[in-house]
Amino acid sequence: MNILLAAAEINPFAKGGGMADVTSYLCIEWAEMGHDVVAVLPSYKAIDKSAYGLVETEISFDVSMGFSKEKAVVYRGTFPNSSAKIYLIGHEEFFDEEYVYGDRNEDEDDDRRFIFFNKAIPELCKAINFKPDILNCHDYHTSFVMPILKTQYQSEPLFERTGTIFTIHNLSYQGIYDKYRVMDFTEMKHKEFEVGSWFEHEGKVNFMKTGIMYADRIITVSPTYAEEIKEPYYSEGMQDAINSRLRDITGVLNGVNYRIWDPKIDIFLSKNYNSESLEIKEQLKLEYLEESKIPSKKHHLPLISFVNRLTEQKGLDIIENKINKLLSTNKFILAVLGEGQEKYEDLIIEAKNQFPNNVILHLKYDEGEAHRLIAASDFLLMPSKFEPCGLTQMYALKYGTIPIVRSTGGLADTITNYISEKGIGNGISFPHYNRDEFEAAIRKAVDLYKSKEHIEIIRRNGMEENHSSKRCAKKYIEIFKEVLDNKD
Ligand code: ADP
Ligand code: GLC
Repeated sequence: MNILLAAAEINPFAKGGGMADVTSYLCIEWAEMGHDVVAVLPSYKAIDKSAYGLVETEISFDVSMGFSKEKAVVYRGTFPNSSAKIYLIGHEEFFDEEYVYGDRNEDEDDDRRFIFFNKAIPELCKAINFKPDILNCHDYHTSFVMPILKTQYQSEPLFERTGTIFTIHNLSYQGIYDKYRVMDFTEMKHKEFEVGSWFEHEGKVNFMKTGIMYADRIITVSPTYAEEIKEPYYSEGMQDAINSRLRDITGVLNGVNYRIWDPKIDIFLSKNYNSESLEIKEQLKLEYLEESKIPSKKHHLPLISFVNRLTEQKGLDIIENKINKLLSTNKFILAVLGEGQEKYEDLIIEAKNQFPNNVILHLKYDEGEAHRLIAASDFLLMPSKFEPCGLTQMYALKYGTIPIVRSTGGLADTITNYISEKGIGNGISFPHYNRDEFEAAIRKAVDLYKSKEHIEIIRRNGMEENHSSKRCAKKYIEIFKEVLDNKD
């Protein structure tokens, strides 16, 4: 099968969050299964092209953007240790920031740069003569490729049988922009945009809705999230669009690329371990606490870590009022690795100032640190308000680190609450998004930690599970086949 994957983030080239991990392993797994895979990504300034062997090609073309023509240049390479191909679309100005997205608070130009990227994709296929059986677009940044193919390339033989699949990673980022700008840039006629049309939501162009409406099939990143988004609480206003496509939505649980996330071979750890050598995990914890200058008299306490974006989604609101009270019990060490909204960064800085010997704080994005901290920790905290899937809890399972989660989305699909009488369960999970349940979960963790026997059972339960990205990639292929069969 010829598979074209389009995304704004693909590991290891450009990462903003979990989507980069997923788009990357999908390409690698599909290529390993024998498919011909082409991935397309904007050529952000921050990408170190020479480090990944990405070379500039002879290919360049004009992309017509309404009142102007913009020149696209193309870089080419392959994924590390894989035959999957990666193409980068460059523009002298649009992708010139250090970030994947424009300034988060001022992303007014994202409509133009992503439409340019979307419009360049069919042109790239023509230039390299790639006839995709499947186009898999990820999140709102790439949703416009689908209407563009349908309305502007309908007579192009390369795309006459292309099936389109839209993967929703997170409904809370939708790409909402001015209708005149977008219709001009896309060169759709203004009359295409009308109230109730596939582009429109609350008077604006909504890229997420466009993706939901135009795709042949829709995948969400976990089965529970596929159910949740039918309801207003989780749908971020998209419930009508979602409910109009119910027959075409499937939840496919994300997976783990064990080539990168496995303590047995993890290149970021000073020592490797598996379920038979958990004493090494304990050594890594002690090293980490020492490095972090936590007094040795506290080294016997459980280490609970939070490795995530510091945003509302990740449950910072229910932590807010409880964290100081819980830290004052002096029953655990909290380590936070993350960056995000200023008010939440301030919250953690304040906790660190008040309890310097019980809090480790890294306000940054650091890949290696994420691996080391997850390996060193006893528990990983994810009290999310909503979580389309979540990857870190699955990484934690493999590292013998016990997830403490709010049961929602992919967290509900992967983490089961430990029942001590039966010895079943791989974590601590609470059902409702509220502060008291969060507090009770932390207290349960601290209590369980006193029993080495229980901790060992939970760890083993988690480490034995297999959440391989291979399973996820295969499920995508099954869906792709269904889409192609329907075209016959
Ligand atoms: P989301 O995509 O919503 O941020 P996921 O759990 O799906 O959440 O994926 C988060 C990814 O980003 C994981 O690979 C995780 O290890 C990584 N990550 C999150 N915060 C940091 C950080 N501060 N430093 C390094 N990696 C991080
Ligand atoms: C999104 C979601 C996260 C999911 C990730 C990868 O960023 O917030 O839950 O795991 O995408 O699909």
